[in-house]
Amino acid sequence: MPITPPEPRNWWSLPLGGQEKIWLTLVVLLGLGMFIMMPVWHVFGAQNSPTETYRVSPEYFWQKATAFNAGGDLSERTAAGVRPKGDDVYLGAMKFAWLPNSLVLQAGKPYRIHVSSKDVNHGFSIHRQGEPAQKANFQVVPGYEYVLPMTFLEPGIYDVLCQEYCGAGHQFMLAKIIVEGGK
Ligand code: CUA
Repeated sequence: MPITPPEPRNWWSLPLGGQEKIWLTLVVLLGLGMFIMMPVWHVFGAQNSPTETYRVSPEYFWQKATAFNAGGDLSERTAAGVRPKGDDVYLGAMKFAWLPNSLVLQAGKPYRIHVSSKDVNHGFSIHRQGEPAQKANFQVVPGYEYVLPMTFLEPGIYDVLCQEYCGAGHQFMLAKIIVEGGK
C-alpha cells in the first residue's frame, strides 16, 4: 500500500495493473448481481411491500377514517381504543395526528390496514414497545389509499410513529395499537 505518490507523477495515464483490473471486474460484477436481484427478488421474494393501492380524494378517505373512528358498522369505540368489527382497519394521517389514535386488535388475526393522508406526505412505521426493531415502514402520500395486509403475531403494545418529516409537530404524531390475546 503506497503512502507516497508513485513515480512517474502522470500515473492517471498509466495502464491499469493486473490486481486493479481484477478488483474493478469484481466490483462491476457485484453491482450487476445486485441490480439483477432487484427484479428477481420482486418476483420470488417473500418480503415485498404490498401493492394494493387506490387513488382516492383526501376528503373521501377522511370521511371513512372519521366514520371508522366514531364507531358504527365498521368498528366499535371502547375506552382503550377503536376495535374493528371486521378485518378492515382505517388509519388516517394528518398534521399532526393519526385517526384513530388508538386501535385494539387481536393477535393472530389477519387485518387489512388502509392508510392514507389528509394533507402532506407522512410515514407509517410500527415499533413494538420494548423492542428496538421496526416492524413496518410505509410512505403515506395524500391521494392514495394503501391497503397493508398485517397480522400481529404477538400481543403487546405497538407504537405507530410518523417517520416522514411533515412539519413542526412531526415528533408528536403518535398512535397506539393494543394487540390482545393470542398465544
Ligand atoms: Cu407526519 Cu411526520
